[in-house]
Amino acid sequence: MLTDKNLVEKYNEAGPRYTSYPPATFFNEYFGNHDYLLSVEKSNFERPQNISIYVHVPFCPQICHFCGCTTETGFSRPFLERYIDAVIKEIEYVSQKIDKKRKLTQVHWGGGTPNSISYKYIERITNKLKETFDFAENYEMAIECNPAHLEFRHIELLKSFGFNRISIGIQDFRKDVLDAINRRPSKRPIEDIVKKIHDEGFRGTNIDLVYGLPLQTIESFRNTVERAVKLDTDRLVTFSYAHVPSVIPRQKILDDIGFPSSKEKAQMYEQSSQILTSSGYVSIGMDHYSKPDDEFAIALKEKKLHRNFQGYCTRETTGQVYGFGASSISQLDSAYSQNIKSTSDYIKNIDKKGVAVLRGYTLNNNEKIIRHIINSIMCNYYVDFDEVSRFFNISVNDIFEIVQYSESKFNDFIIDDLITLEGNIIVVKHKGRLFTRNISMRFDPLIKKKIGTYSKTI
Ligand SMILES: C[S@@+](CC[C@H](N)C(=O)[O-])C[C@H]1O[C@@H](n2cnc3c(N)ncnc32)[C@H](O)[C@@H]1O
Ligand code: SF4
Repeated sequence: MLTDKNLVEKYNEAGPRYTSYPPATFFNEYFGNHDYLLSVEKSNFERPQNISIYVHVPFCPQICHFCGCTTETGFSRPFLERYIDAVIKEIEYVSQKIDKKRKLTQVHWGGGTPNSISYKYIERITNKLKETFDFAENYEMAIECNPAHLEFRHIELLKSFGFNRISIGIQDFRKDVLDAINRRPSKRPIEDIVKKIHDEGFRGTNIDLVYGLPLQTIESFRNTVERAVKLDTDRLVTFSYAHVPSVIPRQKILDDIGFPSSKEKAQMYEQSSQILTSSGYVSIGMDHYSKPDDEFAIALKEKKLHRNFQGYCTRETTGQVYGFGASSISQLDSAYSQNIKSTSDYIKNIDKKGVAVLRGYTLNNNEKIIRHIINSIMCNYYVDFDEVSRFFNISVNDIFEIVQYSESKFNDFIIDDLITLEGNIIVVKHKGRLFTRNISMRFDPLIKKKIGTYSKTI
């Protein structure tokens, strides 16, 4: 069913992406090294028991104008070496506080462009992780790769280090779109890269596409999605381009070229969703798609899908996330902690103290309940207040008070046919999936504080 254009206009407001709750804009600098280390110790006794690791490599040979990630360019080999030494030191220091009887289920390498650094550094860090933690048998180790720097021998090396998933940033196949965002095209045809990953026996391949970029049209993005479908990867993401030049100045230059309108963006979303679902993909959350036999699709069916800063995950693989490297974010049950963003300051702090926290946030129990509800809407398109009540051992009425819930607050969504409300269960209808951020915002008492700059929800 196509989404009514008027609905897009009505609900296209600025709002959090809810990759965390509270959003990162609420992290504060009163939270420091000591708070982080205490939270790490506490995390050993909290849910989930599993350990997830995030390693941030904030380096790219060339910076794309659209990019919202924390990354730098112009790094020398000795500097990179010092950075890797610092990450190893941070793993050694922080892991002393982590109960090693807990299983490591997930490692995610993000950036920046982790595949642009020498592979001996990737090997050093993975070896350190293997000697430090007890990897679960079905662990997942994924790395984000820019195909402009990905050779066949790199794919072979990653496999030998124990990686079993590769995520390829395509964004768009068109040369003019890539030129406009200052991005180099893939070194080899993406089709050959995906085949090589498959032939090497990786468990899976993700593909990132972005809609709403300069020079994209509804027609051109359709061709991009259709070509992506032919790659037959098990997962695919169509990110909505987040344009926030006041926070990310590198994006300003794109204003001169201009962007597709929000109505066109909504059509690109609808069209991609139709192409992908009619080609056999299952829609996961707002913008992710997976094959029906993929663990994401199964988790969605069983209402066990989760989400963290690295994307979606299942209850089986989800762990509390311990982040390593400059700007990395740790997502523990009771706290978020983000490292210093500047790589040279990160290295200096790690050298001196073993940790380098920039800011963070300690959650109280009410905020954990709100986070649970928002995650449920964002991941599983529903919330069952009785289930939340059992999970937190608290009455439904108390939950309603915490999220300031009243049926009348959701009337417009019901009238617009975006949700159904039966007893204590809210279900987001297929038509409402584009608006999960808007629906989540109604449960969020912090919205009133208007802290931070957010991208538009559509
Ligand atoms: C760290 S990059 C992926 C790896 C590699 N650096 C690359 O570009 O291929 C993470 C992904 O975030 C997405 N991304 C970056 N900036 C974005 C923005 N402003 N809006 C939406 N998606 C964005 C892109 O799809 C990109 O592939
Ligand atoms: S999109 Fe990827 S390659 Fe481009 S600047 Fe961002 S992290 Fe680097």
